[in-house]
Amino acid sequence: EGNAGYDISSLMKETGNTTLDVGFVNTASCQSAITYIDGDAGILRYRGYPIDQLAKSSSFLEVSYLLIYGELPTTAELEEFTSRIHRHTMLHEDLKDLLAAFPRDAHPMSVLSAAVSALGTFYQDSLSITDKDQVELSTMRLLAKLPTIAAYAHKKSQGQPTLYPDNRLDLVSNFLRMTFGVPAEDFEVDPIVAKALDQLFILHADHEQNCSTSTVRLVGSGHAHLFASISAGIHALSGPLHGGANSAVLEMLGHIQAGDDDVDTFMNKVKNKEDGVKLMGFGHRVYKNYDPRAAIVKDTAHEVLQKLGVNDPQLEIAMRLEEIALKDDYFVERKLYPNVDFYTGLIYKAMGFPTEMFTVLFAIGRLPGWIAQWREMMEDPATKIGRPRQLYIGEAERQFVGIDKR
Ligand code: ACO
Repeated sequence: EGNAGYDISSLMKETGNTTLDVGFVNTASCQSAITYIDGDAGILRYRGYPIDQLAKSSSFLEVSYLLIYGELPTTAELEEFTSRIHRHTMLHEDLKDLLAAFPRDAHPMSVLSAAVSALGTFYQDSLSITDKDQVELSTMRLLAKLPTIAAYAHKKSQGQPTLYPDNRLDLVSNFLRMTFGVPAEDFEVDPIVAKALDQLFILHADHEQNCSTSTVRLVGSGHAHLFASISAGIHALSGPLHGGANSAVLEMLGHIQAGDDDVDTFMNKVKNKEDGVKLMGFGHRVYKNYDPRAAIVKDTAHEVLQKLGVNDPQLEIAMRLEEIALKDDYFVERKLYPNVDFYTGLIYKAMGFPTEMFTVLFAIGRLPGWIAQWREMMEDPATKIGRPRQLYIGEAERQFVGIDKR
């Protein structure tokens, strides 16, 4: 019963059988042929291909093609796709001026979203949602420019000059060079880092109707163009319960390493829900089993840290937290396992990325999924504008009282 005296059954009749499903726990918002998840079994497939096979044998651009066009590319198709992307990696100089105007300590996720939003003002020739060539052009522009924007946001935060893209390099190596290279100095891309980052991008490339993807679809369902929809998705990703968790994990590990809490004290705080403390990087709405991406990331973390000769005590702390959680009734009963974000931050840190950039890396990885989902929705004749209902629990009708009588 609502506090205004409505009872739910009469309200449901009034609104045509509205179902209250807070957080969309049980409600499918669309049909999709892109990504399959079985959360109980810990299975993830893109277009039918198991994630472990793609992570092991594919490349990020190949997976991007698969997500967007539905099939793995042939050699010729991949070459054509890659060269089309390479044609669009540069940023308009005026867009660079816009980026330069942000404060140096601005969060790079805010800069990323603002810059993608601004792409809609620079590229007005690809804003149509129905013209296939324009959608294709905005797709290429986004895939090519997001890494450049991300690298520029990083350079700005460091107070360093930016580097133009070098299109002789592949997408990931080009991004690493623009991020860590210094003008007029040679920069050797470490193949271990490039391969690991490419694999991490694959693991993040799509995850069906999560918070940011649903945002992209919802904004697009009102027929907003691709740049506007992706810009909104980047903001949705930034929160600590979603993509922002990868930075939050490192902050949590730093807190324990600094001795603010030892591992056991921290875990007790989590279990007692003291001050809303959570074990960041744990739990998932859909996975009630080990997140298959987390299993791959954990192996990669060990491999990359070892190959780079990094001995990070925070990896030990993370493993200890996981070990405790997997045996503890609190986590077992609630089926809380490490998610994709639990170990990624340690790898990004070993690669040299500052914590604020972690969620930006997630966004670069997730971009092809967002684009694929937006395009699928736009091509689906069953699509309607997204418009959830509500159950009204406010006041019943009452009479207006003039301000002098309140
Ligand atoms: N630490 C401690 N307790 C947790 C955690 C956690 N990380 N996650 C869930 N729980 C508890 C909840 O408090 C709740 O307990 P209760 O039954 O006693 O009330 C129970 O487990 C169920 O959790 P919900 O919050 O209802 O689950 P929901 O599906 O709504 O949330 C979410 C999923 C947001 C991912 C949650 O597990 C969480 O906050 N995790 C930490 C943040 C995180 O790692 N986010 C990244 C998710 S993956 C991604 O976006 C890439």
